[in-house]
Amino acid sequence: MSVVFYSEADPPKPWRNAFAAVFPQMQFHVWPDVGDVESVRYALVWNPPSGMLNKYPNLKAVLALGAGVDYLLADPGTPDVPVIRLLGAGLAPQMAEYAVYAVLHFHRAMPEYHVQQSKSVWQPHAPVLSSQFTVGVMGAGIIGGLIAEHLVELGYAVRCWSRSGSSIDGVESFAGDAQLNEFLSACRVVVNALALTDKTVGILGTNTFMSMPPGSYVVNIGRGGHLVEDDLLAALDSGHIAGAMLDVFNEEPLPANHPFWSNPRVVVTPHIAGVTVASEAEAQVIENVKRMERGEPPVGAVDRQRGY
Ligand code: GLV
Repeated sequence: MSVVFYSEADPPKPWRNAFAAVFPQMQFHVWPDVGDVESVRYALVWNPPSGMLNKYPNLKAVLALGAGVDYLLADPGTPDVPVIRLLGAGLAPQMAEYAVYAVLHFHRAMPEYHVQQSKSVWQPHAPVLSSQFTVGVMGAGIIGGLIAEHLVELGYAVRCWSRSGSSIDGVESFAGDAQLNEFLSACRVVVNALALTDKTVGILGTNTFMSMPPGSYVVNIGRGGHLVEDDLLAALDSGHIAGAMLDVFNEEPLPANHPFWSNPRVVVTPHIAGVTVASEAEAQVIENVKRMERGEPPVGAVDRQRGY
């Protein structure tokens, strides 16, 4: 019985150790060394090459090393076994930190002060109370919930939107297409933490931007596929969107000649809002393998219709 590991972002060693400590009989292979294909019972992966997963006749589950599994569901070569994603597992607190930082960055006018500093300009701007700076969180799961909780603690006016109608305690919640424009109409900043599905692809586009108040901001920590990049560039050019902080892109790494790199209103980060840390995530993965070995259902199995 064995596990096959593939990730260009995660070192295999801590995972090898975690499996060896609990399942001493289970071999741990790092792709492309997969050992005997018949023995492979679990695949532990982040962004595997297309078709990598359909070589193992006895595969029991695909264990994703991240929260979003859009890349696995989009690959017709992903076998028909449970795909299990990380729930929280150290990712939610990191993503909430990033979101809080981004909101503070825009709310406290850091882009303007940065430009002023480059010209030695001492020019205070009138304060805006956090209670009057409405933040819209898109996504009401574990990640969106923690983002909202932190922002509420800081005194922001927080509202959330989800496709499914999930709500976050203590936060004004909006659901579905019917309430999207109403949700957006007050958002000085939108933080996208949705899962990428066929229902949310391209959701950060002209309609969304134009439904937000003039001079508002966009933060994308979901997936590049949520954002229509040309629509954002146009909204930034017109000034309707005053700035964006983007962590995820249609093409990663973001190509060197992409206009986001040089746009002074855009902050680019290299998909680091939430990075899987083995010591935070291994307990959840190991527990799921234990459950499956006992014949129990795993926690975090993705509903393929829903996409997360
Ligand atoms: C990161 O992008 C993740 O899906 O965990």
